[in-house]
Amino acid sequence: MTLNIWKYFDITHRDHIFCNPTSVAKFEQIMAMIRLEPGARVLELATGKGEFITRMAERQSIKGTAIDISPFCIRDASAKFQARDTLGEVEFLEMNGAKYQPKEPASFDLTACIGASWIFAGHEGTLRAMNEMTKPGGYIIVGEPFWLQPPDPEYLKSAELDAHTFGSHYENVLTGERIGLKLLFTIGSNQDEWDTYEGLQWNAAENYAVDHPEDPDLPEILKEIDGKRREYLRWGRQTLGWAVYLFRKPA
Ligand SMILES: C[S@@+](CC[C@H](N)C(=O)[O-])C[C@H]1O[C@@H](n2cnc3c(N)ncnc32)[C@H](O)[C@@H]1O
Repeated sequence: MTLNIWKYFDITHRDHIFCNPTSVAKFEQIMAMIRLEPGARVLELATGKGEFITRMAERQSIKGTAIDISPFCIRDASAKFQARDTLGEVEFLEMNGAKYQPKEPASFDLTACIGASWIFAGHEGTLRAMNEMTKPGGYIIVGEPFWLQPPDPEYLKSAELDAHTFGSHYENVLTGERIGLKLLFTIGSNQDEWDTYEGLQWNAAENYAVDHPEDPDLPEILKEIDGKRREYLRWGRQTLGWAVYLFRKPA
């Protein structure tokens, strides 16, 4: 794609609240389970539109750090945060999450990376990186895809994925356990949530085309979304699952 990927993401995720297939209601259920003390330190890598950390700051007086590589996301997330009535504080940093160095290791009460495990070369690398940044007794929350069935080789080729890019849902849990984390909760997404996550992107791209016919990137945007739509409907819908995993680092 010659198109700026963050511009493409901004256009196609314009109407999303969370930029992943978990519903708002399921996120509320998980967030209600996370018990933090006032002033707890929270780190969210790949915050997207900042909805997770903003909602955490509405619930509790956290001290948060939210990171995203996309200038569009950081702009939207920090504007959203300013407009909401929060108890906590959050700083928003535009940077590559892989380069983030906390001032002290193991200093966060909660670390989150939901739907961006490529930052640390996969699920295991993400859990290991977050484990290092989380206090003993603290929480780690990640969102990760998993295979519902062995992927069709044509799907892998089209999506530029490898059969080893993801494991099963159970393997995603075992990976956390192998590095010493305790699984507290996990919640998967159903086809309605996946259809909503994907369909909002198609609709947003079409609306963008109507509103910005002069954009020289438009043909590439529409070609890309058409390819993604066909990939999802032909293979992804029955092949790829998604879940959010809540772990605790032992005290
Ligand atoms: C699928 S979205 C998930 C966003 C958010 N966590 C959510 O669930 O709503 C992936 C996010 O990762 C961000 N991202 C991609 N590569 C990154 C990197 N190297 N460092 C930080 N953020 C990154 C993208 O800009 C995007 O906001």
